[in-house]
Amino acid sequence: MKKMKFAIIGYGGMGGWHTKYIGGSDVAELAGVYDIKPERNELAESRGIHAYSSLEEALNDPAVDAVTVAVPNDDHEEIVVKALNAGKHVICEKPVTLTLESLERMIAAAKKNGRVFTTHQNRRWDKDYLAMKQIHDSGMLGDVFNIESRVHGNRGIPSDWRKEKAHGGGMLYDWGIHLIDQMLMIFGFENLVSVYCICDHITNKEVDDGFRLDLNFKNGQRATVEIGTYNFIAMPRFYLRAEKGTAMIRDWKDETEIVECTAWTEDNVIPVKTAAGLTKTMAPRNETTTKTYTIPRPEADVHDFYRNFVKAARGEEPQFVTHDQMRTDLKAILAAFESAKTGKTVAVR
Ligand SMILES: NC(=O)c1ccc[n+]([C@@H]2O[C@H](COP(=O)([O-])OP(=O)(O)OC[C@H]3O[C@@H](n4cnc5c(N)ncnc54)[C@H](O)[C@@H]3O)[C@@H](O)[C@H]2O)c1
Repeated sequence: MKKMKFAIIGYGGMGGWHTKYIGGSDVAELAGVYDIKPERNELAESRGIHAYSSLEEALNDPAVDAVTVAVPNDDHEEIVVKALNAGKHVICEKPVTLTLESLERMIAAAKKNGRVFTTHQNRRWDKDYLAMKQIHDSGMLGDVFNIESRVHGNRGIPSDWRKEKAHGGGMLYDWGIHLIDQMLMIFGFENLVSVYCICDHITNKEVDDGFRLDLNFKNGQRATVEIGTYNFIAMPRFYLRAEKGTAMIRDWKDETEIVECTAWTEDNVIPVKTAAGLTKTMAPRNETTTKTYTIPRPEADVHDFYRNFVKAARGEEPQFVTHDQMRTDLKAILAAFESAKTGKTVAVR
């Protein structure tokens, strides 16, 4: 099958990643890159990558079928719309944009030009998240009540555009979009009812440098997503509670630990001694009523993102990250900002 040719706009951290990713792709190949900073284009050339002299030159190149946009968040819309109007299919980095009005303009441009437009929710291929989804979807632990998803670091916000509000900085837009999207993939985009969010401002007053967000779903299920950039001891990456037990993933690359409850009642419970007295309620279970095991990490290949995009552009399958999902991801983020500002739970419509 003929490979699809891509131009990448923005040759920074993520643009560089896309060039490597496309370099290893079986469906895509690189036509070139364009960055607004001449030194980034020079760097690309020094690495043997063609650099266009302007955005227009990249968009007018008839050899280019599709464009990947990897510039700071506040510049996504302008470049995406120009690329769609130039007849290119477009992948936009996450978060797709900063307001719903802006997203609707991008979607309208895609429809008007009959081109595929999607966003790079590449963390849908994270194996730790997929393990949580597998437990939820398979019902192996019965109904899942809630999932907590955390990423904790201790270096504050990167000292680039991410620390400035005007560029769409802050951790809700940066990491929140990934963790929210993962939870909506598990519990259902259509089931999201409301959110409650508290933002941190430990190292940055202008934008959030961390947050704790509860996502409430129709049937009482709840997801908690949390980003911390001032956490010198990290909490587990995932924690899941379900009818028949508890699952946990301690760190990125760890296996999923499961403790399954095999019988509800237990004889000979040994009370646990606390400073204020004895408690049977909080006593650990003995081995006769629980089973402890790990499950293997699910298989996943992040190249499936580009594979799907190319097939969608050729009309062979629907795009995996849909416009409606992009809308709900962004609505959840905007509702989270409102909740953090008002101190109230905010409905998502
Ligand atoms: N999907 C992911 O896992 C992931 C990871 C990191 C970043 N991102 C996203 O990728 C985008 C870029 O982030 P980054 O970390 O690469 O930032 P970066 O600052 O490292 O790179 C951005 C580059 O864009 C260039 N640029 C700025 N405005 C431009 C314009 N108008 N035209 C052309 N070039 C322009 C800058 O000169 C810079 O080289 C952001 O939207 C970010 O959220 C996604």
